[in-house]
Amino acid sequence: MGDFGLINLRNARSGVLCWLLVVIAFTVVVPAHGQGLSGTWKYSGKPLDNGETPISFLQLKQNGSDLTGSLTTLGYAEELRGSAVGNHFQLFSSWNKEKPFLTGDLVNGELHATVGGHHTFVAQPASPGEHMPVVPYIVPPPIHDVPQNGLAKTPPMGWNSWNLFEGRVDDKLVRDIADAMVSSGMRDAGYLYVNIDDTWEGVRDAQGNIQPNSKFPDMKALADYVHSKGLKLGIYSSPGPRTCAGYPGSYGHVEQDARTFASWGIDYLKYDWCSAGLIYRDSELRPVYQEMGAALEATGRTIVYSQCEYGRGQVQTWGARVGANLWRTTGDIQDNWTSMMSNVEKQVPTAPYAGPGHWNDPDMLEIGNGGMTDDEYRTHMSLWALVAAPLLAGNDIRNMSDATRAILLNKEVIAVDQDPLGKQASPVKDGNFETWIKHLADGSVAVGVVNLGPSGAQATVTANELGLSGPVKEARDLWLHQDVSFKNGSYTANVASHAVLLLKVTAK
Ligand code: GLA
Repeated sequence: MGDFGLINLRNARSGVLCWLLVVIAFTVVVPAHGQGLSGTWKYSGKPLDNGETPISFLQLKQNGSDLTGSLTTLGYAEELRGSAVGNHFQLFSSWNKEKPFLTGDLVNGELHATVGGHHTFVAQPASPGEHMPVVPYIVPPPIHDVPQNGLAKTPPMGWNSWNLFEGRVDDKLVRDIADAMVSSGMRDAGYLYVNIDDTWEGVRDAQGNIQPNSKFPDMKALADYVHSKGLKLGIYSSPGPRTCAGYPGSYGHVEQDARTFASWGIDYLKYDWCSAGLIYRDSELRPVYQEMGAALEATGRTIVYSQCEYGRGQVQTWGARVGANLWRTTGDIQDNWTSMMSNVEKQVPTAPYAGPGHWNDPDMLEIGNGGMTDDEYRTHMSLWALVAAPLLAGNDIRNMSDATRAILLNKEVIAVDQDPLGKQASPVKDGNFETWIKHLADGSVAVGVVNLGPSGAQATVTANELGLSGPVKEARDLWLHQDVSFKNGSYTANVASHAVLLLKVTAK
């Protein structure tokens, strides 16, 4: 689900959403089946871990070989555009024009399709007028500032379940990861938060209290266990009625859920827009996020507040004012070079807004998940440190290669990320090299030169381009863990394709 977490708000106000599962409403009749792909198609997904069966609607309009439409699931809606040849079709999302979002075939009056590259489904024509029921609109609160909670003076560090495990997260995994955070040295290197992402949710009890599903038999006991290891526990919800994976969100239960999270001993909340995009406009993002910020504050427990709305509505300009400690600035990261670089390069306009207590979040780390080379993962780690990004490992901490361990546990690079000045670097491009400079609290600078090209090349770092207060006193290569010398005001080294030269340079 995370690979298509972006919500399209084009028809937000009129958007519809199912939260009571298969509910049938009779309105306008749309389907025109028998005339190709046009019409409304419905399919039931795999049952959720809380026992509910999700339904989705695919609305298609075919005009010759042109195909347009939308997919509405419990958690999000996506506008689609593509083509049909014979019985075969492919549809692209608005945010990825390279890889189809949905592909399929019309077979005997049914759609046999694949969404997101791996979820397959068979859709039937919807009954006349069948669609998801409208969720009643709840007016967001008037805008006011929520005070900062005093947490996250440096970017949060920890682990999150989503990137590798998606729905395969449970109590045992979280305990095992907590154990591994200690035995691997991750905790002692600063990775403190163990964060459960989507799919932990059950259903609400008669009083409206959210219950965990059977994968998490006792959330309070789990928090106690994680705390006993010197770690902190994070959880996930949405301001919408449903999370991106279709589980119950906090819509209509914001204060109640904040109190529940506090009573369990939760230390970190990731709050993901998802189906809120089917109800609210982007102009309502701020009060909607403020509501949870204020609710967390009212619990009296200090809880790191992580906004996840993919950078909509220039979140960097107001995120701190709703009490948030970090906010996602991009769509979901994928475990490949193009996605990783695209997420970090999108940070340029957000740079002025990073600082102690409030950070831009280009998404969690993919280091160790197998989709990039070790050089690329070193670049990933270096760039996240240079832009003062949260360092949330997204791999299997129980089972790390020596290279992954060395990357995530590089204390000299972690120190760049955790520098108390909290500056966020921006890139300067020169041919295939991209240079990122971060000013540090002690007056030194960290400089990273990334080779974007297809082959190795010589990179030169020139001292007088670093903004230092004097000539170079010392310089250190933070990946080789060795001091290097500037000669005649510059330093040159070979940088392999997609690798990085990362130096810390101190002035006299
Ligand atoms: C969205 C978020 C991801 C993850 C998933 C869970 O896609 O951006 O980081 O939390 O939802 O469903």
